[in-house]
Amino acid sequence: MSLDRVQDLLSCPNCGSEMVLDAGRLQCALGHSFDVAREGYVNLLGGAEPANADTTAMLAARGRVQSAGVFAPVAEVVAHLARSRSPVLDAGAGTGYYLAAALGDEQAAVGVGIDVSKAAARQCARADARIGAVVADVWQRLPVVDRSVGVVLSVFAPRNLGEFVRVLQPDGRLVSVTPRPDHLAELRAAHDLLDVPTGKAEQLVAAAAEFFDLVDTRVVRYRFDAGAELARDLIAMGPNAFHTVPAEVGATTVGIDVTVQSFRPLQA
Ligand SMILES: C[S@@+](CC[C@H](N)C(=O)[O-])C[C@H]1O[C@@H](n2cnc3c(N)ncnc32)[C@H](O)[C@@H]1O
Ligand SMILES: [Zn+2]
Repeated sequence: MSLDRVQDLLSCPNCGSEMVLDAGRLQCALGHSFDVAREGYVNLLGGAEPANADTTAMLAARGRVQSAGVFAPVAEVVAHLARSRSPVLDAGAGTGYYLAAALGDEQAAVGVGIDVSKAAARQCARADARIGAVVADVWQRLPVVDRSVGVVLSVFAPRNLGEFVRVLQPDGRLVSVTPRPDHLAELRAAHDLLDVPTGKAEQLVAAAAEFFDLVDTRVVRYRFDAGAELARDLIAMGPNAFHTVPAEVGATTVGIDVTVQSFRPLQA
């Protein structure tokens, strides 16, 4: 809940100028002004939340899954690749779990969590005192100053590569997590859920080549014994929750299978 710590990193969504926090409002030099919500986040979206923004119920399910440690080894690799590179921007931050992990135990580190969902921003603002949470659309110009952040995180979230390279310091890093086809495969097969397409990490390398060099790739693969409630939360936290969460979900061992990649901006 610390917009004051990150105000220097934020730029006005209307005119691009710098912003300052004053009496519960974030304001730019031209007088564009945005209220800080009671819960500590600021909404810079300038429009209605899209229909596919994650809901409060999805966020709550994801929070329980993350608190149970299901993704802890993934967060550890993300934190390792992001280490000592504050400020950190998490684009599609959700609960703020990976952003908090990336800040590590450095008290001076700061992070901005952007998400198009207000429910996510609410939760992200609570995740860590070093995080400022912002509602914004990753597909628009990011409300973040040029060359200001040391790391952009993109964890299971949409990627606007041109904007990521704009906001990164020249020696910064983009750290991404993409699912591999076996990710949560047991749950998908048992409950007829959406598949993960193959080759997501490779497609990202190809799409990023215009802006980034790939510098590190790690496959993180392990199994986790999930009780029935956790198995249900694993379904409820994802895109399937927009359709239906099956009533009967039993305890199961799930496979976590993801690629974590680190990219460096191409040098001009
Ligand atoms: C699958 S969740 C991942 C969240 C988080 N990174 C995690 O792994 O826990 C994807 C997140 O991206 C957000 N999102 C989807 N489209 C977005 C957009 N256009 N701009 C910003 N955030 C977006 C969703 O609201 C959701 O919180
Ligand atoms: Zn402005």
